[in-house]
Amino acid sequence: MFRFDPYSPAVDADPFAAYKTLRDEYPCFWSEEAGMWVLSRYADIVSAGQDWQTYSSASGNLMTELPGRAGATLGTTDPPRHDRLRGLIQHAFMKRNLESLAEPIRGIARDIAAPLAGRPSFEFIQDFGSKFTVRVLFAALGLPLGDEATVRDKAVMMVQSDPVTRAKAPEHIAAYEWMQAYASKVIAERRAHPLNDLISHFSMAEIDGDRLDEREVLLTTTTLIMAGIESLGGFMTMFAYNLATYGDARRAVAANPALLQEAIEESLRFNTSAQRFRRRLQRDVELHGQTMKAGDFVCLAYGSGNRDERQYPNAEVYDIARKPRGHLGFGGGVHACLGTAIARLSVKLAFDELLAVVPDFECAKDTLAWMPSSTFRSPLKLELAVR
Ligand code: HEM
Repeated sequence: MFRFDPYSPAVDADPFAAYKTLRDEYPCFWSEEAGMWVLSRYADIVSAGQDWQTYSSASGNLMTELPGRAGATLGTTDPPRHDRLRGLIQHAFMKRNLESLAEPIRGIARDIAAPLAGRPSFEFIQDFGSKFTVRVLFAALGLPLGDEATVRDKAVMMVQSDPVTRAKAPEHIAAYEWMQAYASKVIAERRAHPLNDLISHFSMAEIDGDRLDEREVLLTTTTLIMAGIESLGGFMTMFAYNLATYGDARRAVAANPALLQEAIEESLRFNTSAQRFRRRLQRDVELHGQTMKAGDFVCLAYGSGNRDERQYPNAEVYDIARKPRGHLGFGGGVHACLGTAIARLSVKLAFDELLAVVPDFECAKDTLAWMPSSTFRSPLKLELAVR
């Protein structure tokens, strides 16, 4: 009998064969172990993302939700509350003009890539990806320099869960509490001395007299730090992993940097770091001969929708010429990622600079240890041998 447990460490390591069986044979699957439905086909995930009245995020969107977060921040509210929060935050994003960040981001990438010149090997996350992501997010959000390593460690810890109990372990909760205390200190500082950064802008954002309340500002700041650092960092690692694994793509990009943006988009389709999110049904739904009941949880397997042959021919092939329009790497519908522009820009500039210093590399180890998360998927370490 086919079984699929989205919380299993084996799925963190390699979900793709199981995703294919799900799509072909069990497109609306009840996971006994997880106690939730799993939707795996592209078209079903897109419809669910648009139909927030049925597929609600208000009980939390992470596969293992953090306490107190449901119903209080962007990813965990439904319209109209979600629209209000998103409108206010988008307003802040617009004020923190992205173009003005491009040169500083390139400078950060160049600084971090330079010491890698001439090295026979390096560990991508510690030596490049994580340092870069944290510095970019600190610059964009306006976090005071000095705490970068701790903030990064706590953000990564927050998105993990215990693979045995499937729940957050005390150290994950402690990381979340630390992040809230940290965010609340930064918000107070920024309100006292506002700067041209996202936290200053959105903690004071106002549209037609509407402002965020204290709890919304706090949990949204915490979410932005977590989403920014973990999603961007995890994706940078996955992109490096794809380039290290697919030599033809890596060499093509190194020879012609104009291909970089397409390689990034295809990586967001083929191997996104944001694999699975959760919704809760507000009414009964009939789908593919199954009846899902109001109150049931549903896993939207974005990583599977992205490999659906019904949407993308030869979907299991990493093809940087594909131009995978409409991929689910950033989700879709009302909750589509708010950080897409800064994420795309950052990854592009980072790899422009990295490939200029280290154009050819491959994985130094055959097997990788994967992060125990069930929402996000990326290796805990990525050792690269320079060729
Ligand atoms: C390549 C990097 C990234 C990936 C792959 C990614 C992926 C995603 C995905 C799949 C969702 C949808 C979640 C759902 O359906 O419930 C999402 C939402 C979100 N992301 Fe990202 N993300 C990235 C970078 C960022 C960055 C850099 C930021 C902030 C600076 C950010 C902020 C957010 C926020 C606030 C939401 C919630 C949006 C809403 O519910 O309206 N993300 N992201």
